[in-house]
Amino acid sequence: MLLKGKVISDKIIAGILEKNLPKMTLAVFHPANDSVAGSYLKTKEKWLKKINSEIRVYPVSESMSESRFFEQLESANNDPDVTGIMVELPLPIKTDTEALHTKISPFKDVDGVTYLNQGAFFSSGNETLVPCTSLAAIRMLEHYDIPVSGKNVVVIGRSYIVGLPLFKLFLNRNATPTVTHRKTTNLPELLAKADIVAISAGTRGIVTSSQVKDGATVLDIGIHVLDDGSVAGDMILDRENEAERINYTPVPGGVGVVTNAVMLENLVKCYEMQK
Ligand SMILES: NC(=O)c1ccc[n+]([C@@H]2O[C@H](COP(=O)([O-])OP(=O)(O)OC[C@H]3O[C@@H](n4cnc5c(N)ncnc54)[C@H](OP(=O)(O)O)[C@@H]3O)[C@@H](O)[C@H]2O)c1
Repeated sequence: MLLKGKVISDKIIAGILEKNLPKMTLAVFHPANDSVAGSYLKTKEKWLKKINSEIRVYPVSESMSESRFFEQLESANNDPDVTGIMVELPLPIKTDTEALHTKISPFKDVDGVTYLNQGAFFSSGNETLVPCTSLAAIRMLEHYDIPVSGKNVVVIGRSYIVGLPLFKLFLNRNATPTVTHRKTTNLPELLAKADIVAISAGTRGIVTSSQVKDGATVLDIGIHVLDDGSVAGDMILDRENEAERINYTPVPGGVGVVTNAVMLENLVKCYEMQK
C-alpha cells in the first residue's frame, strides 16, 4: 500500500482550525541568500496560512556576528507576538550548538530541540514537543493502523532531529528499534528481518525496495532533488508494483507533507503552553 500523507495533514489542520485560535506567528531564523532554504521558507509560509497564521523571517547572513544572532534570538524569545521559533540549519555563521539548544525558549521550541524538551522526552514518556519529522513518521503508522508494539524496527540515521527521536518514539510504543549509521556493518541483514524501516539517511539508494521483506513498512524520510528536477526519497524501487508487496511512503507526498502539519501542531502546543 502507498502511505500518502495528505489525508493525515488535512485531518491535523482541520483539528487546529476547530480550536478557533488567534493568529500565531512563527519566527524563522533563515540563512539569507540560500535558494534551497528560500524554498523551505515559502513552504512554511504556505502552511501557516492554512491556519490563518504567519511567518516572521529573521535573515542570517554571513556577516552577522554570533552575538548579534543570539541577541535577535533573545528578542524573539521575549516578544509576546512570537508564538514559536525555528532555526533553519545550517546557518551561514558558526553557532555553538549547545548555546542554540539552550537559548531558544522551551515554550517556543517548535522543533523540539532544546535541552529541556529533549531531556523531558528522553528521560520519560513525555512527548510534548518532539522534533516534527520523527513524530510525522509515527503519525503515518497510526493513521494506517500499522502495528508497532513488539515489531522489529530499523531506523537508518541517528541525527538528534530525526533518527534519534524516532528511536525513542518507537521505544515508547514498545517496538524493538535498532538504529544504524555509517559504521553499521550488517544493514542488509537487519533490513531483511525488519517489520518497519524508517530511512533518514539523506543518501539516495541506501535501501532498495527488494531488500525489505513482504508486508514490511518503509517510512522514507530522505528528500533529494534529482538532476531532472524531480523529487525522490532515500529508497529506490527496484521491482515492479511494490505497493502490492510492501507499504511505503511516497516522496513527495509522504512524510514531508505530514511534517509540515506537525510543525503547525507543535506551534499550537507552544501557544497553549505560553497561555
Ligand atoms: N521529510 C521531511 O520532512 C524531512 C525533514 C527533515 C529532514 N529530512 C531529510 O531526512 C534526511 C536526514 O536528515 P537529517 O537531518 O537526520 O540528516 P543528517 O544529520 O545528515 O543525518 C543523517 C544520518 O544518516 C546516516 N547516514 C547517512 N548516509 C549513510 C550511509 N550511506 N550509510 C549509513 N548511514 C548513513 C548518518 O550516519 P553517521 O551519524 O554515521 O554520519 C546520520 O546519522 C535528509 O535527506 C533530509 O533532507 C526530511
